[in-house]
Amino acid sequence: MRRPFVAGNWKMTQTHASAVALAKGVADGAKALVDQVDVAVGPPFVYLTAVKEAVGNSGVTVAAQNAYFEQPGAFTGETALDMLTDVGCQWVILGHSERRHVLGETDELINKKVQAALAKGLGVILCVGELIEERKADQTNAVLDRQMEGGLADVTAEQMAKVVIAYEPVWAIGTGETATPDQAESAHAHLRNWMQSRYNPDVAQATRIQYGGSVKPDNAAELLAQPNVDGALVGGASLKPETFIPIIEAAHVSVAS
Ligand code: PGA
Repeated sequence: MRRPFVAGNWKMTQTHASAVALAKGVADGAKALVDQVDVAVGPPFVYLTAVKEAVGNSGVTVAAQNAYFEQPGAFTGETALDMLTDVGCQWVILGHSERRHVLGETDELINKKVQAALAKGLGVILCVGELIEERKADQTNAVLDRQMEGGLADVTAEQMAKVVIAYEPVWAIGTGETATPDQAESAHAHLRNWMQSRYNPDVAQATRIQYGGSVKPDNAAELLAQPNVDGALVGGASLKPETFIPIIEAAHVSVAS
């Protein structure tokens, strides 16, 4: 049984005050749920320290939304992985569709970041997902294969213990349009099969695959009920405890059923 993992991606939102208040709200609401569900919040870099302090010992962990693969040094504007571990970050989200499609990140660059993050002992949430035109052209599985092969190049079976995959169909991100439970399940099953062939059945069975793309309190339960959906990467609905906590509760319920 894979332990569900619900993570909030706050993207480029919040002020110092709102980030601290949101983190405290999530910590309070999630305290009773972290026995069965892993929970992380992903604030912008500048608020990582404050958010880490705000979640305290609630069991809620902190994720960064990106990082650079190089050692600390002359890389103006970038953030080193050592800096993330230094401030108590346990996770880094890599390959998010906004980084791929707005900031132009390639699978090759994402792979360098994945490898560097794993070498530093950070957990990696690797995002993959197809554009709407790729889905319409029946290219979904081919795109997922390419992003998995590229992003996980040279990552060993042992290292996969620290990797979580997030399936995020680009057309469902921030659009209010969610993949149906069947569409999500089919992509997740494909990703699991990919891991079975590339690694082995143990890695395929143990690796968690989150669904992301307009996850909300009212659709979380049916998505999380799918056998290959092991959690959620939540954007918009993670920005308020009132909408984020019910998603964590849905994951908690899914463990019992
Ligand atoms: P959304 O974002 O929940 O607002 O669709 C998901 C994500 O980008 O991770």
